[in-house]
Amino acid sequence: TRPLKVALLGCGVVGSEVARIMTTHADDLAARIGAPVELAGVAVRRPSKVREGIDPALITTDATALVKRGDLDVVVEVIGGIEPARTLVTTAFEHGASVVSANKALLAEDGATLYAAAEQHGRDLYFEAAVAGAIPLIRPLRESLAGDKVNRVLGIVNGTTNFILDRMDSSGAGYSEALDEATALGYAEADPTADVEGFDAAAKAAILAGIAFHTRVRLDDVYREGLTEVTAADMASARRMGCTVKLLAICERAADGQSVTARVHPAMIPLSHPLASVREAYNAVFVEAEAAGQLMFYGPGAGGAPTASAVLGDLVAVCRNRLAESTGPGESAYTQLPVSPMGEV
Ligand code: HSE
Repeated sequence: TRPLKVALLGCGVVGSEVARIMTTHADDLAARIGAPVELAGVAVRRPSKVREGIDPALITTDATALVKRGDLDVVVEVIGGIEPARTLVTTAFEHGASVVSANKALLAEDGATLYAAAEQHGRDLYFEAAVAGAIPLIRPLRESLAGDKVNRVLGIVNGTTNFILDRMDSSGAGYSEALDEATALGYAEADPTADVEGFDAAAKAAILAGIAFHTRVRLDDVYREGLTEVTAADMASARRMGCTVKLLAICERAADGQSVTARVHPAMIPLSHPLASVREAYNAVFVEAEAAGQLMFYGPGAGGAPTASAVLGDLVAVCRNRLAESTGPGESAYTQLPVSPMGEV
């Protein structure tokens, strides 16, 4: 069988791990897929950086030329951000490749454009790594639960803020003290705004709501409140009531089933709820479905290797589809429902 050609856009923490596993686990991947996978090119911004294990001849700074090659089976996009990622992904579809993306910002902002391009060119768009790192969530919601009816998704989808709230709860620390600790341990970015103001969680809520309810939800549709106002006193009073505070992404279908809502805000949850036991920087997503009942997905939501695990799972699925000349679920599996940020709570 011919080797499947894969291009990697971005070779940072996640991309370099994807490349490493593609090389070290090449035989296993070939066995899972039914054909070998070949790294055909790696687009980077800084070509001089030493990248162990990657043939220097594969490195290029011209991502556009790479996605236009025309012989690629799959483009793996791990650059992040809206542009140039959006143009590169749509160009990849136009030139016959399927796409695996870890880009939550792009999917939440303009998923519709990507889905439409994938559908138009008969290719796949998979994005397991965009929400909650290693935790299988997108494909379970999009595929395993597609015959059920999901009514509610409650998620701790940002590790940095969960770490901060956990520290505030366990040690009585104030918000800034806990944030300093998260920064010192490398959880929080130098600029933690996207995490602490809830933007990161809101992007993930938009993606989860869209997938769970098979409809289109954009970042702008999500009500958002971060955790910067949560004080040590709030945490202590939650404790006195047998609760803790978590930054939750809450996606719900209205009782009549005719509209959906998505929101992110700090919420008090009883200590008896499974989400209360999610400590440190872990993520967890609690799903309520009509026939399945209550499910919880739990694990590491960030980091190079866990995120690469999700990317590689998608890569295997997309490569199998290419060999079978078929595609996974796409745009036509969606029905647009009205979306309101708060709706009935
Ligand atoms: N900043 C994110 C987090 C990284 O803390 O969860 C994963 O998207």
